[in-house]
Amino acid sequence: MALIIDTRTEPEHALAIACETLGEGLPVAIPTETVYGLAADATNPDAISRIYEMKGRPRFNPLICHVADFAMAEAHVSFDRLSRKLAEAFWPGPLTLILPLKPDSDVHPLASAGLDTLGIRMPEGFSRQVIARFSRPLAAPSANTSGKISPTSAAHVEADLGGKLALILDAGPAEIGLESTIIKVDGGEIRLLRPGGLDVADIEALTGKTVLRPETAGAAIEAPGMLASHYAPGAAVRLNASDVKPEEALIRFGGKPLPGEENAAIILDLSPSANLREAAANLFAFMKQADASGAKTIAFGAIPNEGLGEAILDRIERAAAPRE
Ligand code: TXA
Ligand code: MG
Repeated sequence: MALIIDTRTEPEHALAIACETLGEGLPVAIPTETVYGLAADATNPDAISRIYEMKGRPRFNPLICHVADFAMAEAHVSFDRLSRKLAEAFWPGPLTLILPLKPDSDVHPLASAGLDTLGIRMPEGFSRQVIARFSRPLAAPSANTSGKISPTSAAHVEADLGGKLALILDAGPAEIGLESTIIKVDGGEIRLLRPGGLDVADIEALTGKTVLRPETAGAAIEAPGMLASHYAPGAAVRLNASDVKPEEALIRFGGKPLPGEENAAIILDLSPSANLREAAANLFAFMKQADASGAKTIAFGAIPNEGLGEAILDRIERAAAPRE
């Protein structure tokens, strides 16, 4: 059983124990504004190995490194003009930038999977305080078994990895609920590697540039975490349902009932008022709840493909992809 410390009531205790645990080379589950992360000292190969072991994750998959401030970021990566502008506007926040790794960075190659770039972000909230106190970057994927749904609460982490983990910091439900948006600036073009918690429209508004969407095949290589079957619940997933079959779990949006839903195993509405932010924050917890209902299939009602809807649909489509 993992020790769970509530950061809202015991922030000092949480910081002290977290830094002690990280210093011993052990992973700690930390609350970020996107999802809970499984964090370890990015400069310590043993610590990073433990992340891969706990998640059962393929080693070729690089990890995002989390920093507390710009000085810490500058020690490890070089910013081009556009990337800096994005970081200054959206950090701390749900934006990961892929940037050239500096030759003298002490981030271990196990964290970057030996690439000459680093995925880096400055998270919002208590996790940032942990990094500042620890004063080294933390490598952190989402705190779930590889291929499963990302955790948006300490209870999700405990249920999945509690048996293997020493410490979980509990800051309540993740505010955003979707992983960060991953961006790579290439020759003055802004490329989207993963839609996420930062709306692409906000990036376009800031820069006046069109963000280039991935050509599906190329993107899978560029951001190896983007394997088709990801974020998988146990149940099968049916997209864009216009009705509900008996005993299906229904996850709908916008407060509109669907024909047949009276026979559903469970009915969940991501946002009765059709607010995409609220829907994003509820998505993973509702997928877990629908899964736990025992239904063999989860039917998703239609969700608009605009704003954060793009990232929400991306995660649902991955959940629906054929399993290996
Ligand atoms: O919101 C988030 O991003 C959360 C929290 C914990 O920060 N983290 C997260 O990490 O979602 P993870 O490991 O589940 O996803 C990391 C993604 C993967 O798809 C990986 O391939 C990509 O980032 N990535 C990391 N470094 C990269 C690099 N150098 N080049 C391309 N893609 C990279
Ligand atoms: Mg993940």
